[in-house]
Amino acid sequence: MCEEKKVGIIGLGAYLPEKVLTNKDLEKMVDTTDEWITTRTGIKERRIAKPDEATSDMATEAAKRALKAACLKPTDIDLIIVATITPDMFFPATACLVQEKLKARTVASFDISVACSGFIYGLAIADQFIKSGAYKYALVIGAEKLSSITDWSDRSTCVLFGDGAGAAVLAPVEKGGILSVYLGANGSEGDLLKLPAGGSRIPPTKKTIDDRLHFVKMNGSELFKHAVKIMADAALEVTRPLGLKAEDINLVIPHQANIRILEAVGRRMGLSKDKIYLNIDRYGNMSAASSAVALVDAVKEGRIKKGDKILLDAFGAGLTWGAIVIEW
Ligand code: UT7
Repeated sequence: MCEEKKVGIIGLGAYLPEKVLTNKDLEKMVDTTDEWITTRTGIKERRIAKPDEATSDMATEAAKRALKAACLKPTDIDLIIVATITPDMFFPATACLVQEKLKARTVASFDISVACSGFIYGLAIADQFIKSGAYKYALVIGAEKLSSITDWSDRSTCVLFGDGAGAAVLAPVEKGGILSVYLGANGSEGDLLKLPAGGSRIPPTKKTIDDRLHFVKMNGSELFKHAVKIMADAALEVTRPLGLKAEDINLVIPHQANIRILEAVGRRMGLSKDKIYLNIDRYGNMSAASSAVALVDAVKEGRIKKGDKILLDAFGAGLTWGAIVIEW
């Protein structure tokens, strides 16, 4: 019998805009304090893209860095997936714009819209295409310009988000790679986090702009409860088929939504704090870019060694969730 192909990450790259917006800066913009933001979220600062810098620009830069790390050229790539809820425009897909900016071949290129779970969904899709033998090299990018859909007069959301991009090149590998994937969604709770207008349900009008319906609306405290349960359950579901226990995981790379969510997930999983990777203090919540950038940073900081088993775990609007175990 043929042995199933193993698929791994052979190159990673991230791009963060230069501009830093600190909690102190936000104190001057809305009725908030550094103390509230730090203790309630764990965020100290976030990056903000330039006005003329769009999601595809950040995605392309992250992709170039990932390709360099993988020692590949853009023309080697067979598939481009961009996970984003802040595409440059409704269409064409941001992945097509990235393809053109990279000068890649005319390969399959598409976006996925599953919010903060996007990078993990993207890895899962690429895993299937490579495992099936359809493609050899896939580029999966999580990229967001959340500052473009943030209501800068709403203190309950504007302190949370940041901009950035992370990219991974996937390919067949001899050993390790993606061991297990678990994805899910629950559309019945979709109202908890959404951008109400601009689509076919509520097309843009002067009134939708006046009513600020083109910005993120979020029920934070309800989402918080779902996030803790769903991320802990997803960790269990993805490790169960492998017979792994929490102590067998070397590092959890979670979606960086809120430090209190991640601490609660860690307690539920019985994980020590040092096994949960955090960079939320530097970047805030970057939706689909969060777990991608966290993975890049964890590798850069030497937190992941060859042979380690790492768990990516994310939750977001939809609701959607995804977890993946990778042997490095
Ligand atoms: O990316 C995946 C999806 N997102 C999430 O999973 C986010 C999940 N939710 C959260 O992270 C938290 O719910 C938040 C950080 C958004 C909010 O924290 P919380 O502890 O749930 O606060 P809250 O919404 O219950 O608000 C508590 C108080 C309120 O004041 P009152 O009504 O008690 O007087 C808010 O008005 O904190 C107030 N508040 C603020 N105060 C200062 C809300 N935002 C701010 C702020 N500065 N920026």
